[in-house]
Amino acid sequence: MKKNFGLICIAIIGMSCWSLAQFEGECGQSGCHDTLLQGRSVHSAAADDCATCHEVTDADSHEFKLADDEPALCFMCHGEDEVTAGKNRHMALESGCTACHDPHAGKAGHLLKSGEGGSVCFDCHSKYTKEFVHGPAAVASCTACHVPHASDRRALQRQAQPDLCFRCHGPLQAEHEQAKHIHYPVEDGCTECHSPHDASREYLLAKGVPELCVTCHDDKLPGDDESVASVHEIIRRDRSCVACHSPHFSPNSGLLAKASPDLCFSCHDREITTGRGTIQDIATTVRQAEFAHDPVASGCDGCHEPHFSANGRLLTERSATDYYVSYSEEAFGLCFQCHDAAAFASEKVIAETGFRDGNRNLHFVHVNKERKGRNCFFCHNVHGASREHLLRESVRFGTWDLPLNYQSTPTGGACTPGCHKMYRYENRPAEEEL
Ligand code: HEC
Ligand code: HEC
Ligand code: HEC
Ligand code: HEC
Ligand code: HEC
Ligand code: HEC
Ligand code: HEC
Ligand code: HEC
Ligand code: HEC
Ligand code: HEC
Ligand code: HEC
Ligand code: HEC
Ligand code: HEC
Repeated sequence: MKKNFGLICIAIIGMSCWSLAQFEGECGQSGCHDTLLQGRSVHSAAADDCATCHEVTDADSHEFKLADDEPALCFMCHGEDEVTAGKNRHMALESGCTACHDPHAGKAGHLLKSGEGGSVCFDCHSKYTKEFVHGPAAVASCTACHVPHASDRRALQRQAQPDLCFRCHGPLQAEHEQAKHIHYPVEDGCTECHSPHDASREYLLAKGVPELCVTCHDDKLPGDDESVASVHEIIRRDRSCVACHSPHFSPNSGLLAKASPDLCFSCHDREITTGRGTIQDIATTVRQAEFAHDPVASGCDGCHEPHFSANGRLLTERSATDYYVSYSEEAFGLCFQCHDAAAFASEKVIAETGFRDGNRNLHFVHVNKERKGRNCFFCHNVHGASREHLLRESVRFGTWDLPLNYQSTPTGGACTPGCHKMYRYENRPAEEEL
């Protein structure tokens, strides 16, 4: 209240004293206007003296005029600077203070008129009617988020985001405070993605996922680009991105919901049937493997892209995906990032590979062929195996599980696969010969 409040009041009251003398003390209790002062909140100014605002113009015909126009009338006592502090003024103020307030007594608190549908805000603004309405907007608690008069913030927001939202979403605030990684747009505001009022989708989202995410991350869905050889089909499905990422914050890098490999195992812990065949259960293979492949231990991202890839099977580098391959180093570029291609290069070897019978390179025999060279996964399981050297028990051949029956022997190994009789190979001298 302004300092000169008292002075002004005295002056006004003094001026109107004489003219209103004949109605003194009666108006509010006269039986004519006593309903004016009934309500949840009563204006002390009105209870005190009607004449502050109403000047008699003609006592005989009971005619009055307002002591001033709005809002000056109200600013006689309420500091203009206080009420309208803020660069951004609510346009409603143009309609006068009494657009929202009853000058005598309000049916709602703060002298507020009850308004359309229980809130004065709906006298001018439409109700929010989409399928999903935000709790506080549904019950017309508009002032939980908005100041009614003026603010320095856009759209009369009571506080800056995300604090505005954390007033009620306490659990998210706690996550936010503890998070190592915060999604960039969250710092700009929660309403980058959510409507504060209503939406036709769950979680008050204007767009569904993945559409919402690719408005800013359009490189995370494959285009019609011919260089795309494999797509993790789930990324096109409903809620795809949030199956792996948190939209808000996370203890893991890349905003991942879980760290790899657990993230991947949340789906790849069972066989998955697709239109193109069955995808192996990788989690069980890895967990039950007596012999693990080193790079798998540090996660899946060493070899796989999560979204899509220029190589088959989402691989980061090319590794042929057919059973039979026309051999070239490039065809197994992924493996040769870490393993020496010399193990496959020539018919005769000394020590380039253990898969040799004396000097005869059996890797070369099986793999290095123009036609029908065997893929590595014919014999090895790159995700882990129960036999040494990552050798498989069996390999899926069409619908048949072709057994390999590999045995490691003191001087090499032996196998009796479904494709030939038992063969042994000797890659080191027997112990007694040493
Ligand atoms: C703070 C200023 C103020 C005080 C004090 C005040 N009024 Fe009013 N009154 C107004 C304004 C402004 C209007 C115009 C109403 C509107 O536009 O909502 C009004 C309108 C009225 C009206 C006509 C419209 C209606 O709502 O029926 C009556 C009657 C009235 N006042 C009586 C009183 C009486 C009786 C008192 C004292 C008990 C009183 N007023 C005290 C500001 C005041
Ligand atoms: C004669 C001085 C005076 C005038 C003129 C006056 N008020 Fe008030 N008003 C008061 C006093 C005194 C209070 C009670 C002190 C407080 O709560 O701030 C008050 C309180 C209020 C409140 C707060 C009610 C609450 O419960 O929070 C509102 C809203 C209000 N006035 C609106 C108006 C409007 C609108 C006008 C103009 C139509 C107006 N006042 C004119 C003196 C005045
Ligand atoms: C759009 C509706 C609306 C208009 C127009 C409006 N007010 Fe308010 N006013 C409110 C609401 C709602 C509150 C309740 C306080 C809150 O929730 O922040 C309020 C609270 C108040 C209060 C008491 C609390 C405080 O902020 O000190 C005063 C005094 C007040 N208004 C004066 C005025 C005056 C003077 C005008 C005209 C210049 C005016 N109001 C115009 C909606 C309005
Ligand atoms: C007398 C009519 C009227 C009433 C009552 C009213 N408003 Fe408004 N409001 C307007 C007008 C006019 C605008 C400007 C046009 C628009 O954005 O719709 C506006 C704009 C707004 C804006 C956007 C401001 C900006 O800077 O973008 C918010 C937020 C708002 N009103 C909230 C409220 C709330 C909350 C209430 C209830 C306390 C309310 N309004 C009551 C007329 C009103
Ligand atoms: C949970 C907080 C919250 C509640 C509750 C809320 N609003 Fe808002 N409102 C906002 C935010 C935040 C914005 C700014 C939106 C943005 O970032 O574009 C806004 C914007 C607005 C605007 C400007 C136009 C627009 O839609 O962007 C109006 C008008 C408005 N609100 C009116 C209301 C009314 C009326 C109510 C009560 C029925 C209400 N709001 C309830 C937070 C809220
Ligand atoms: C005044 C309290 C309040 C404020 C402030 C508030 N909310 Fe809410 N919000 C709620 C309530 C209540 C619910 C409904 C709770 C429920 O259904 O579990 C809700 C639900 C939501 C939901 C949907 C959750 C779900 O599980 O469907 C989202 C999204 C949301 N709020 C976002 C926001 C954003 C963004 C802001 C800030 C602009 C915000 N809220 C500010 C009270 C609030
Ligand atoms: C980048 C977009 C984006 C931003 C920014 C964002 N959200 Fe969300 N939010 C989402 C998506 C998408 C979902 C739905 C997640 C799902 O489907 O599991 C969601 C879900 C929610 C939920 C319901 C589920 C839950 O986790 O409780 C609430 C509440 C929520 N958000 C509040 C907020 C608040 C508060 C902020 C600001 C701190 C915010 N959001 C910022 C995209 C966003
Ligand atoms: C309004 C734009 C916008 C929207 C919408 C958006 N993001 Fe982001 N996102 C960004 C920006 C900006 C960055 C930080 C810049 C960068 O690292 O590329 C980012 C970073 C990320 C990151 C990398 C974080 C890190 O720490 O490496 C992930 C993951 C991500 N967003 C996922 C999502 C998902 C999932 C959605 C949908 C729920 C989404 N984004 C929606 C703008 C957006
Ligand atoms: C199968 C799980 C999975 C899905 C589904 C997924 N992502 Fe990712 N995303 C990841 C992994 C894993 C990373 C690598 C994180 C790291 O850097 O540690 C990543 C990284 C990112 C990055 C940041 C690093 C970069 O490459 O720039 C963004 C942005 C991103 N994803 C957005 C999206 C969007 C948008 C969607 C939905 C279209 C989506 N993701 C779907 C798992 C997934
Ligand atoms: C939300 C479930 C889900 C998660 C999490 C998930 N995947 Fe998948 N993945 C699938 C489904 C369903 C398919 C089969 C459809 C397809 O081809 O995308 C698949 C297929 C694959 C394929 C075979 C693609 C092809 O072209 O044959 C690879 C490789 C793969 N996922 C790797 C991963 C990796 C690595 C992760 C962890 C970053 C992961 N997945 C996380 C559901 C998931
Ligand atoms: C050393 C590289 C490498 C690592 C690390 C790796 N993969 Fe693979 N992954 C491959 C290769 C090569 C293929 C294709 C050959 C095959 O299917 O065995 C493949 C195929 C797949 C397939 C498709 C299987 C099918 O039946 O079509 C899935 C699913 C998969 N990997 C998931 C994972 C997951 C989950 C992880 C992390 C635990 C992981 N991979 C780690 C190299 C790797
Ligand atoms: C990121 C590096 C890396 C990639 C890529 C990689 N490996 Fe390995 N691999 C290793 C390491 C490290 C070992 C353990 C040390 C060793 O025996 O060379 C290993 C071991 C092996 C073994 C077991 C050797 C033994 O005698 O026990 C086989 C078989 C194998 N890898 C096959 C493959 C195949 C097939 C590919 C391609 C699909 C591949 N690796 C891709 C790093 C890699
Ligand atoms: C016909 C079955 C077969 C095929 C096909 C095969 N390997 Fe092997 N590989 C073996 C056997 C058996 C051993 C174990 C040799 C031993 O006793 O030390 C082995 C050993 C290895 C080793 C350990 C180092 C070494 O050379 O002794 C690596 C690495 C390896 N293979 C990678 C590959 C890669 C990469 C491919 C595909 C380009 C591949 N293998 C194809 C059977 C095969």
